[in-house]
Amino acid sequence: METTNLIYETLAKAVLAEDAALVESLLDTCYRGGGRCDAVLDEACRYSLMAGGKRVRPALTLEFCRLFGGDPQNALPFAAAVEIIHTFSLIHDDLPCMDDDDLRRGRPTSHKVFGEAYALLAGDALALDAFGMVAANDRISPEARVEAVKLLSAASGSAGMVRGQIADMFGEKNTLTYEELLFLHAHKTGALIRVAAQLGVLAAGFAVDSPEMEAAVGYAERIGLAFQVIDDILDVTSTPEAMGKSVGGDADHHKNTFLSFKSIPEAEAFADSLTEEAVSLITPFDGSERLISLARYLAVRKV
Ligand code: IPE
Ligand code: IPE
Ligand code: MG
Ligand code: MG
Ligand code: MG
Repeated sequence: METTNLIYETLAKAVLAEDAALVESLLDTCYRGGGRCDAVLDEACRYSLMAGGKRVRPALTLEFCRLFGGDPQNALPFAAAVEIIHTFSLIHDDLPCMDDDDLRRGRPTSHKVFGEAYALLAGDALALDAFGMVAANDRISPEARVEAVKLLSAASGSAGMVRGQIADMFGEKNTLTYEELLFLHAHKTGALIRVAAQLGVLAAGFAVDSPEMEAAVGYAERIGLAFQVIDDILDVTSTPEAMGKSVGGDADHHKNTFLSFKSIPEAEAFADSLTEEAVSLITPFDGSERLISLARYLAVRKV
């Protein structure tokens, strides 16, 4: 089992590194100044965007495009847009009015460095700019781009990630049912992971109602839930040094997490079974080993 884990880990790390290099080559061209009044906005956007991070979501976009025979370059602006939305969500998630955290991606959080107003506005800028990036991806048909904008909006806005953040806040003051917790996780984390996969399928030229999309969505929903289950565990078991972000905040804020319902071994077993379900959905497709390794690596990740 240990050796098998090692094989998955090696491939998954190589996949993540390859895709991170691709997406960072595009992200690095963004927020290069040109604003007459105040360069701090660009600095704040770049500070959070270029601080590393696992780049899991853009990797999913690029990998699903690859899996279904597309050129990853076609998916690159979509991949970058998802990572930009994710980065905005982290900046706002860390604000004093939200999780009030001091450390993110190994650096002091945006509001600690730039102040709350800049952190808020850098988040706003990233959120809105991402949609322009999707719409401007002229390697993709206009119809598919419109579909991508609609999916990304639904996944990030009031029907998606933001709704999940509201559920998360509600859970600080109320006891959630297990179904409500699943709703919380599916929205605050699952929605962006799901759309990351969907945009990769669109970039490969497949429609929203294709069997390829169905497999990608099934896979992404399962690894998305597993991802937040592991995040809840690591918030209890890990350290800021290992994670590069604040930990322990879930208990401090009396949040409802997966560990409100399951022990750590039970939660780990649940993440494993979701992962194996995800794996089985993409195994029939040639070239799926990259996404299979990624899923299995994420289930045993330590950061
Ligand atoms: C952190 O996401 C927020 C969650 C949804 C759990 P990641 O764990 O993907 O954070 P980065 O991008 O690697 O920093
Ligand atoms: C954050 O969830 C999800 C979003 C940013 C939308 P968490 O609050 O659990 O993420 P971490 O643990 O701070 O990374
Ligand atoms: Mg939060
Ligand atoms: Mg948080
Ligand atoms: Mg967390």
